[in-house]
Amino acid sequence: MESPREATPVPPAADARVLLSSPTVLERCATGIEGLDNIVGGGIPRGNMVLVAGSVGTGKTTLCLEFLVRGAERGERSLFVSVTESSQKLIQNLSTFEFFRTDLIDQGSLVFVDLPVVYDRLGLGHEELTAEEIDIVIRTIRDLVRSLGIRRLVLDSLTSVCYRIRRDEQIRDFMLRLGQELSAVGCTSLLVSEIGPTPGRYSLHGVEEAIVDGVLLLWNTRRLGDIVRVLQVVKMRGTSHSRAQYVIELTPIGILMAPHLKGGRETGGQ
Ligand SMILES: Nc1ncnc2c1ncn2[C@@H]1O[C@H](COP(=O)(O)OP(=O)(O)OP(=O)(O)O)[C@@H](O)[C@H]1O
Ligand SMILES: [Mg+2]
Repeated sequence: MESPREATPVPPAADARVLLSSPTVLERCATGIEGLDNIVGGGIPRGNMVLVAGSVGTGKTTLCLEFLVRGAERGERSLFVSVTESSQKLIQNLSTFEFFRTDLIDQGSLVFVDLPVVYDRLGLGHEELTAEEIDIVIRTIRDLVRSLGIRRLVLDSLTSVCYRIRRDEQIRDFMLRLGQELSAVGCTSLLVSEIGPTPGRYSLHGVEEAIVDGVLLLWNTRRLGDIVRVLQVVKMRGTSHSRAQYVIELTPIGILMAPHLKGGRETGGQ
């Protein structure tokens, strides 16, 4: 008679290792900014939420817009949720960039929504949003993303939304839920975070950077009297990446990146 031990098929050790490791290849959402895609292994893992943190005028909005335009060009419908600037003014300012194609807006591949207008329509006029109102904001964004089949989303800026949420636990909850909703439909998102001169902080409250899947940091630095823009990938879950500094140029054809050569006279700056 066979013993129960003999009857149970046990895979050889090598097979067990294969089963344990069973690597799943992450689908990547190419940002379309070549230098950045090279750093992060082809793109942001699809469905991930990434913070674009930086001080004023460092190119946060331009980077986010290029990400959406490149997506829309590939047939991925893209949504820009504007909080700080009216989208009309934004589109006007961006029209100086050659890569910015207004025909994508006409086709409905690139969609702009002004969150303050949404707040007004929903009657969310108070200074501070209640838990219920936060829930309404999340559901409104979710419904837009689902109904329009949005694959890329930008929120510019998360900081402005957080001014009306304020409490750390509510910000955490807002971001976790928004992240889940977007990830569930494979929508990759960039959230703009305005930061001041405090070193080591990537957001207003500090909770934001812990929740997101990735952080891109942009800042200004001085070199021999000039101000240059610098970008660094601080974190990108699911990705082995360089954390080196890159100089970025906002050119009419899009963002160009080059290694930030060490040496020369450089002074920190924001
Ligand atoms: N056509 C253009 N070509 C190159 N650079 C441009 C062009 N138009 C604007 N810029 C540069 O882009 C900068 C603005 O970049 P952007 O708005 O993306 O920065 P930001 O970090 O979002 O700024 P803010 O903190 O004000 O939101 C301008 O200060 C200008 O230097
Ligand atoms: Mg901006």
